[in-house]
Amino acid sequence: MRRRTHVLAIDQGTTSTRAIVFDPQGRPVATAQRELRQIYPADGWVEHDPEGIWSDTVSACRDAIARARLTADHIAAIGITNQRETTVLWDRGTGRALHYAIVWQDRRAAALCRELVAAGHEKAVQAKTGLVIDAYFSATKLAWLLDNVPDARRRAEAGELAFGTIDSFLLWRLTGGRVHATDATNASRTMLFNIRTQDWDDELLSLFQVPRAVLPEVHDNAHEFGVTDKILFGAAIPITGMAGDQQAATFGQACFQPGMIKSTYGTGCFALLNIGDKPRTSKHRLLTTTAYRLNGKPTYAIEGAIFSAGATIQWLRDGLKIIKTAAESETLARSVEDSAGVYLVPAFTGLGAPHWDPEARGTILGLTRDSTSAHIARAALEAVAYQTRDLMEAMAADGGARPQALRVDGGMVANDWLCQMLADMLDTPVERPKVIETTALGAAYLAGLTAGVYPSVEGVAEAWQRDRRFEPAMPASTRARLYEGWQKAVRRARGVAR
Ligand code: G3P
Repeated sequence: MRRRTHVLAIDQGTTSTRAIVFDPQGRPVATAQRELRQIYPADGWVEHDPEGIWSDTVSACRDAIARARLTADHIAAIGITNQRETTVLWDRGTGRALHYAIVWQDRRAAALCRELVAAGHEKAVQAKTGLVIDAYFSATKLAWLLDNVPDARRRAEAGELAFGTIDSFLLWRLTGGRVHATDATNASRTMLFNIRTQDWDDELLSLFQVPRAVLPEVHDNAHEFGVTDKILFGAAIPITGMAGDQQAATFGQACFQPGMIKSTYGTGCFALLNIGDKPRTSKHRLLTTTAYRLNGKPTYAIEGAIFSAGATIQWLRDGLKIIKTAAESETLARSVEDSAGVYLVPAFTGLGAPHWDPEARGTILGLTRDSTSAHIARAALEAVAYQTRDLMEAMAADGGARPQALRVDGGMVANDWLCQMLADMLDTPVERPKVIETTALGAAYLAGLTAGVYPSVEGVAEAWQRDRRFEPAMPASTRARLYEGWQKAVRRARGVAR
């Protein structure tokens, strides 16, 4: 009888680290989670402690395996998925990071990005990377580290340092420092990787002044990346799948045909539209990215990235303290007929697609003496739907056909009210799958495909199951009126900081 039957997915996200064990049918059987401390050293700066990420990862994996009543010998493979772009620079000798990780939301490189745009580099960078020049991506974060950590540039040039996004850093640690690699989807978010040639690009390396010696090797998403150090889990486990979290979710949602689209609601919200095997550049400030690469063949996606979705609800809980749990936001939103003209633009760390405005800041508009916490909670949830609409409008303006349905996932979509609001605002059916932990599932599938636990990509598509479909029900005039109010609110949020 086969002993190695299960797959362990590590989902290292912005606010938490999760380990989930999946059975041979792709069902989650045990989960362990650790909250991740957010470090805010200055306005618009966000950092994570890589040692915290590492210890959380190891302990969550051990817990998940134990909760599944298994041992490491039963785990056929590990799949890693992660918050993308977040940048770590570590010492190849000691394995220790030279600085806290600079998180994707961090805006410290905004001025450098403005200079690069002013110097006319935007078009060429977009043509190669599919990205707009923005502090969101790794290149300018890495440049900041090389310029600001004492001696870092000299040591990087001497080959003593390694750069990686979180996937790479975890892979390095899990393999006991034996493997320095990443996958094509994470590489695609660095702004140093040419998505057409699927290779690091010398012109980009020289533009961002990044020495090649710090870079990891880039592989397919389903690949034998290495094996874990025996001492970690009691037996060596092969690491055979890796992908950025949004691309893993696209895979877990089985968006394998051009025109299929998913949107994940975690800390932020990221919508990825499969565009097939040819990259195409957005004219409306959306991103082109590698959706997945299998057997050397890339499939591309157009992506809309929003910085605050779950983060807004977290702020209602921890900042404003008007709810005690995220789930209460639904009850509060339902307790009022409408938001009574209140709009909340959650530009806490600026605005992402399609505005790309690092200076915009969070704004609440339309308050009257009758406004209550319920209106604000409702406006916060509505903002998630309005922002998704902004992305869909940009995708439509880019010439994309109207999708037949939007597949949604992530913790927030347990909220039925939000799913209905999405369907209403987008005027498109919204489909929620049975497994909403689609990010981890995608990583498990990638790892399990390599390890032979899951038979084929077609099998993944067949295994996708719908939990519920939400049909648009809002009158067109209401939809238009609400969205117009949102667009005005965004203009005000962008003006406030100027
Ligand atoms: O690009 C950032 C993204 O990968 C973060 O995802 O799930 O932590 O919001 P999440």
